[in-house]
Amino acid sequence: MTMTIYEDQSVDIGWSSTKIQDFRRCLLNWYDQNGRDLPWRRSCDPYQIWVSEIMLQQTQVATVIPYFERFIATLPNIEALAQADQATLMSLWQGLGYYSRVRNMQEAAQQIMSDYQGRMPDTMPDLLSLKGVGPYTAAAIGSIAFGLVEPAVDGNLMRIVARLFELDHDISQVKTRKLFTQILRQLIDPDRPGDFNQALMDLGATVMTPANLNPEASPLKEFDGSYQHGTAHLYPVKKKKAKASHHHQLVYFVRNQKGQWLLNRHQDQQLLTGLWHFPIYEQDLIFESATPSEFIEPFFEWLGQQDINLKEVALHQQVHLSMANAESPYMPFDQNFSPIKHVFSHRVWHLQIIPIYMEDELAQRLVEFNPENFVWVHPQDINLYPYSSLQAKLYQAVQSDSME
Ligand code: ADE
Repeated sequence: MTMTIYEDQSVDIGWSSTKIQDFRRCLLNWYDQNGRDLPWRRSCDPYQIWVSEIMLQQTQVATVIPYFERFIATLPNIEALAQADQATLMSLWQGLGYYSRVRNMQEAAQQIMSDYQGRMPDTMPDLLSLKGVGPYTAAAIGSIAFGLVEPAVDGNLMRIVARLFELDHDISQVKTRKLFTQILRQLIDPDRPGDFNQALMDLGATVMTPANLNPEASPLKEFDGSYQHGTAHLYPVKKKKAKASHHHQLVYFVRNQKGQWLLNRHQDQQLLTGLWHFPIYEQDLIFESATPSEFIEPFFEWLGQQDINLKEVALHQQVHLSMANAESPYMPFDQNFSPIKHVFSHRVWHLQIIPIYMEDELAQRLVEFNPENFVWVHPQDINLYPYSSLQAKLYQAVQSDSME
């Protein structure tokens, strides 16, 4: 029997109920023997499962483990997360990236405190009403923590379904995810839905990987059309995304006479809200050919956008501020930092580091204009200010180029 996809997108996978039961048994036996021992699997606390699923959304299991353990040790329950201050949250997440994930999670925790008496909701519609919880996460939490019979369709499950049935649908499309969800609804084990989902996640991560290096090890060989026909490399089909956009950023490493760095707090950039960073300004400058004054001028433009009284600053600019070079007091840098490339999911940033030395009088004024979002920080205290992994990368480049 072959699979039939009807016009209304409902599906008959064409397997007998015996075959479906065999499939479940093979998969779950394999999981019982080969499933990974992961910290969130030692608990059935829905909160811990939620935290793990959010962390795992864009991050590898091995990276997540220490973050997960620290997060749970610091914020052991929904109430603690709802009440956590911003700095704690940011530092617990620092290095994981995609910070909106943790901000959304805190909002959802507050929602759970006010709408669900502090208890994690246990139905799909209620889970889906939480900020940052989409169909995948709701199904993962629902099935693992509450035994809801719902497939948690992530990239691993899509790859496995595409191979089992040799489906060439574009997995970047929402309608493909819906179709694959329908197929998995017919396969999922109603007695162990959480284990079924996690078994497929583990199988996709360890055996039915994209490279598929050891197809013989798969417990699903006899159910797998692509294994039988030697076509695994053709699946899944994913159409190329639109080209990434490129952006040029100037990053100002401004140091004062006390040897402190100027940090600014993002307010409006979605990617980085709430984190501290070295002043950064998007520009069309072609880095290689710009002169020092061409690098400094945009810094003043940028200051003008940050509630700084430019007229007042301009008065001091000539005397008190200069592009740092090997002779600069307190800031002996070689001038030429190589541009640094940083790739977000759909954007590429080309960053040019510009070291600037600022005398104390001007340095003091700057912070007075906007003390909420500007601060001078001693290098030894820099870790007290939550910053993104991009900032860490830039700071490292500056430290290794510094002639101190
Ligand atoms: N990836 C996302 N969630 C997971 C889980 N619960 N187990 C293993 N890998 C995962």
